[in-house]
Amino acid sequence: RPLVLHTTSQVHAWRRQQTKLDRTVGFVPTMGALHRGHLELVRRARAQCDSVVVSIFVNPSQFAPHEDLDQYPRDLDTDLAKLSAPATMAETQTATTVTTTAPNMSSQARSSQPPARPLADMVFVPSVCEMYPSGITLNRAEQRGTFVEVLGKSHQMEGITRPHFFRGVATVVNKFFNIVVPDYAYFGQKDAQQCVVVKSMVRDLCLPIKVVVVPTVRDHQRHHDINDRSSDGLALSSRNKYLTSPDQRRQATTLYRALTAAAALYRPAGDNSHASATRTTDRESLLTAARKVFEDEPSPEVQLEYLSLAHPDTLEELDAVGADGAILSGAFRVGQTRLIDNILLNCT
Ligand code: PAJ
Repeated sequence: RPLVLHTTSQVHAWRRQQTKLDRTVGFVPTMGALHRGHLELVRRARAQCDSVVVSIFVNPSQFAPHEDLDQYPRDLDTDLAKLSAPATMAETQTATTVTTTAPNMSSQARSSQPPARPLADMVFVPSVCEMYPSGITLNRAEQRGTFVEVLGKSHQMEGITRPHFFRGVATVVNKFFNIVVPDYAYFGQKDAQQCVVVKSMVRDLCLPIKVVVVPTVRDHQRHHDINDRSSDGLALSSRNKYLTSPDQRRQATTLYRALTAAAALYRPAGDNSHASATRTTDRESLLTAARKVFEDEPSPEVQLEYLSLAHPDTLEELDAVGADGAILSGAFRVGQTRLIDNILLNCT
């Protein structure tokens, strides 16, 4: 089992130990309810770093009063069980592991190998008081304490309907960085704007941390047939638990299908050339193609919130995809459940 720590001072002591042992530390911040998407981040950390830390904390400062802070799924025991699973040998990068892959190893040598390590070495599960010593209130006028805000990148796209969200994310991630002091930190492409905000914060605050962005992990389920392992495209999300019926589960793929339809105009099938004459780059055509997928399947359950074609670093809305590529993204509701997704167009 991974070591489970609850306080900042415990983590600082653990971190000093890692420094003494000259170990690199990889860190995956999460809000729990772990799924394969989260675990992919942890695997990447396991493969790249000597020690792996996962935090599990449902961060109140990134929720607005009307949002789902209280309903957000919490299941610490199941999460810890997932993080206790042995990392496969290929995922661990210690010298002893390398010898286990040698083809002619005797069974004696094999049996003397140390037991496989769990996916995470340490899991940090702080209380709200530990993370917010000055207190936290959903009423912003009464709020005291110190917050971090990444100006210019927090109020477009997701920030339009969630104006406090990235302030909450940047603040809590900065706190975690100060507590864990990781060498590498892992974030999912699924939350594209979050990746841009965190990278900006790391650069602006001169933090010695490498941010690694991991591709979005998508669901295997198609039409609710659990025997069909092909992907229907739905990005894994803790909030998928809110989808209550097979109909909602099917409708939840609408955004990915819309983004895929637009991306197909930008990169036509079989076209690998970067300067294709057939490539569509203009905003109107791309977003119209995406919107059409929603229009073709009208349902009172499905509400498109926004579609965006934004610069991958500045997050400014683009008239056309240029040399730097673009983030094609959106948000929508299926019943009460709000889901987001994105596809990168030609980003390096
Ligand atoms: P949470 O939604 O739990 O996600 C934790 C990390 O897992 C994020 O970096 C997210 O982008 C990544 N992730 C989620 N679903 C994924 C998927 N399908 N494929 C790949 N990665 C995926 O994001 C947060 O928590 C919070 O905002 C946090 C950063 C922990 C700050 O509170």
